[in-house]
Amino acid sequence: MSRLVSVSLVFLACASLDVRGANYPAALDALGRPATSEEIRAWDIDVRPDFQGLPPGSGSVAGGETLWLERCANCHGDFGDSNAFFTPIALGNVTEEDIESGRVAALRDPAVVRTTFMKVATLSTLWDYINRAMPWNAPKSLTTDEVYAVLAYLLNLAYIVDYDFVLSNDNISEVQQRMPNRNGMTREHGLWTASGRPDVIGSACVTDCAVGTSITSYLPDYAMDAHGNLQEQMRDYGPFPGIQTEPDKASAAPRGGSGEEGDAPLLLLSQSGCIGCHQVGKSLVGPAFDDIRERYAGRKASAYLAEKIREGGQGVWGNAVMPPMRQLDAKAVMALANWLSGQ
Ligand code: HEC
Ligand code: HEC
Repeated sequence: MSRLVSVSLVFLACASLDVRGANYPAALDALGRPATSEEIRAWDIDVRPDFQGLPPGSGSVAGGETLWLERCANCHGDFGDSNAFFTPIALGNVTEEDIESGRVAALRDPAVVRTTFMKVATLSTLWDYINRAMPWNAPKSLTTDEVYAVLAYLLNLAYIVDYDFVLSNDNISEVQQRMPNRNGMTREHGLWTASGRPDVIGSACVTDCAVGTSITSYLPDYAMDAHGNLQEQMRDYGPFPGIQTEPDKASAAPRGGSGEEGDAPLLLLSQSGCIGCHQVGKSLVGPAFDDIRERYAGRKASAYLAEKIREGGQGVWGNAVMPPMRQLDAKAVMALANWLSGQ
């Protein structure tokens, strides 16, 4: 169970003891009720490196292949080799010697494309990540056995298991012993410059932890935009909205439209999670908003576009999928659709 959950449990435990004195502020009654054990179970889904927390189940490579082609290949490529939505998951560069030694030799070559299987040290991380986050357009929609199956297929693509393999909670720790980069995770160095000192070694606090307020490590300015401007990568699927990391944009917060015709409602677009895939002037994962506006100009397409925004789609502009954006309220959808159709 993560530390965050444990901390909230402490609060919940206090709240459930009836220790309310005469000074107990009435407003606190509105703060809720203790979480039920089912509610805690629903949140407590993390799988640890030693596989604690892993639910029992199994899935075959062949079953995973079918599922992969239906649910995952669109974005990651038939063989996990696509570089379009995200870096490739599997694409060679792992050898039988790496599997023996547990360190991927090709990582020493800066010119080699880095894949998930070249880097990841713990199989639990992949199980957990797929279980909670994939497919990107419908997270948490896979059953436990489907997660095993699709992971078995990925392990086969990375030459770690044979095609007739069935991955299960019983044999997953043996497969961990074949992870190509299982010995490749080191903590003996700084992530950026840390004056030669490791900056990632600490002692895990589990009980009675002091909650500190100081940040002890941060990115130096020159490294802030190492992954592009995170603010332009805001997504609905993912824990954090990105922060501004591009130095020359530091003061240019997203703005609302000026009211002039054709002015982009940038604030609404970024709050609605569109900017990670669409930009106004250039195509990214999805088409440029300018191109959409041009295509539908004068066609009274508001209702069509509103439906597209709510339900998502594929095939009008290419093979990439636009996920349903059902979390938006009707007013925001109409405002976006009206702007896009010029209506
Ligand atoms: C709509 C596009 C899309 C679909 C469909 C999709 N993914 Fe992903 N996947 C992504 C994106 C984007 C990321 C990176 C997400 C991030 O960093 O926030 C990702 C990341 C991953 C990663 C982590 C890779 C790493 O190195 O961190 C795995 C594993 C993965 N996906 C597996 C799957 C599986 C399994 C399925 C099908 C059940 C699937 N994906 C379906 C877009 C997709
Ligand atoms: C995960 C990436 C992603 C996100 C997030 C996303 N889109 Fe899209 N969008 C796409 C892709 C890919 C297409 C092209 C789909 C196609 O070819 O049919 C698309 C197409 C569209 C279209 C054109 C539909 C058509 O039939 O011509 C509109 C309008 C649109 N998106 C609006 C939005 C809006 C508004 C948001 C935010 C609320 C948003 N999108 C968020 C990926 C995304």
